[in-house]
Amino acid sequence: MTDSLTVRDNRTGQEYEVPIADGTIKAADLGKIKAGEDNPGLAVYDPGFVNTASCRSSVTYIDGEKGILEYRGYPIEQLAEKSSFLEVAYLLVHGALPTKVEYEAWVHEITYHTFVHENVKSFMQGFRYDAHPMGMLMASVGALSTFYPDARNISDAENRHIQIVRMIAKMPTLGAWAFRHAQGKPYVYPDNDLSYTANFLSMLFKMSESKFEADERLVKALDVLFILHADHEQNCSTNAVRSVGSSQVDPYSAVAAGVGALYGPLHGGANEAVLRMLRRIGSKENIPAFIEGVKNGNEKLMGFGHRVYKNFDPRATIIKKACDDVFEVTGVNPLLSIAKELEKIALEDEYFIKRKLYPNVDFYSGLIYEAFQFPPEMFTVLFAIGRTPGWLSQWSELVQDKEQKIARPKQIYTGDRGLTFAPASERWK
Ligand code: COA
Repeated sequence: MTDSLTVRDNRTGQEYEVPIADGTIKAADLGKIKAGEDNPGLAVYDPGFVNTASCRSSVTYIDGEKGILEYRGYPIEQLAEKSSFLEVAYLLVHGALPTKVEYEAWVHEITYHTFVHENVKSFMQGFRYDAHPMGMLMASVGALSTFYPDARNISDAENRHIQIVRMIAKMPTLGAWAFRHAQGKPYVYPDNDLSYTANFLSMLFKMSESKFEADERLVKALDVLFILHADHEQNCSTNAVRSVGSSQVDPYSAVAAGVGALYGPLHGGANEAVLRMLRRIGSKENIPAFIEGVKNGNEKLMGFGHRVYKNFDPRATIIKKACDDVFEVTGVNPLLSIAKELEKIALEDEYFIKRKLYPNVDFYSGLIYEAFQFPPEMFTVLFAIGRTPGWLSQWSELVQDKEQKIARPKQIYTGDRGLTFAPASERWK
């Protein structure tokens, strides 16, 4: 067996041998297939990159058929149960688990960098009273590049490291302040005696008490949610970070692009849609009629199905467990019983079984966030904080990868050609 593809171009009768490596062929090899001397050569047309590999990556492995998600080779189930978000962030960024000394230094560094320049606070305060927190987050992450102009020096490993630390450290501060802004409450400074996630909760919810310490079970549940969102290989926002980063811009600008991509409803917004759907169903008795509507193609069962996972989404299983832990503290969200019943009925129904539709990460995450009393606009901010180490690991990999080039896809031109321009004075006579 030869690892190659024999392509016969029926336009010319010519045959080409195209090497196969890692289950892919190089698009540039197809470019050698030409119908004539002046012909630009064959290209692939792939809107949404559904079957195009854009990079080599050793960060995250997904097997959608088997429901496997691994960060740097470690299964998500083990990391969610036994690790912490900052340890997972270290693993993603450095490619290996830390020693005790490395871990302590990492936690110290991140904790030390949680504060932002006072001017960041002033410009965040300049947003309209009802500004969407995700818009505020995107703008303020991008603005950090003006506070750290040295971040442009992306070829220096030490420099990259400090920007990575700064961004992981400051995201919760920016996210929490965006939340407080919408509520008209004073911004709360970081409390560096607390853990990463406990400090975030303190910046979100502290009022007049001298210290805010959230229930440990809530801290753990949110930490697990951050772990579950920390990376997901070449998704839309990571692709945005890589694409913008490929111009060799500083990492704040690249990550701001990632936040922008995540802002869109097709990426970060499904959990909010799940809540709306559950509210609309309203009670268990209405579930059969709702399911009938889905089967008739009138609507979708939000939080079900996934482009990659076709058997189960491993993150959904973990989140379901986190739900129980959170509701033990906050009291049960009445929508939970509708969600559980809906899941039970859907999983037994031929329509969903045949199409391999299972609950995804968003089916339960909205319920948990609501129990924390986050408004839906904050859901994507939480996602962004969790995804930051993933974006930065992918960005770091990109800038060190000698095979990478500036992202510049081809197009199939469908417009006019060679028209003759007449000045307005002639056209409008
Ligand atoms: N409810 C009902 N039917 C669904 C469905 C859902 N949530 N998701 C997919 N289907 C059906 C499609 O209608 C299609 O049926 P058909 O073969 O009879 O036409 C079939 O399942 C295959 O779906 P397809 O749209 O090809 O899958 P995809 O991989 O392109 O889409 C999603 C994946 C995630 C976009 C899709 O499942 C979806 O919209 N889910 C709801 C939104 C959501 O939860 N998004 C969060 C993702 S983490």
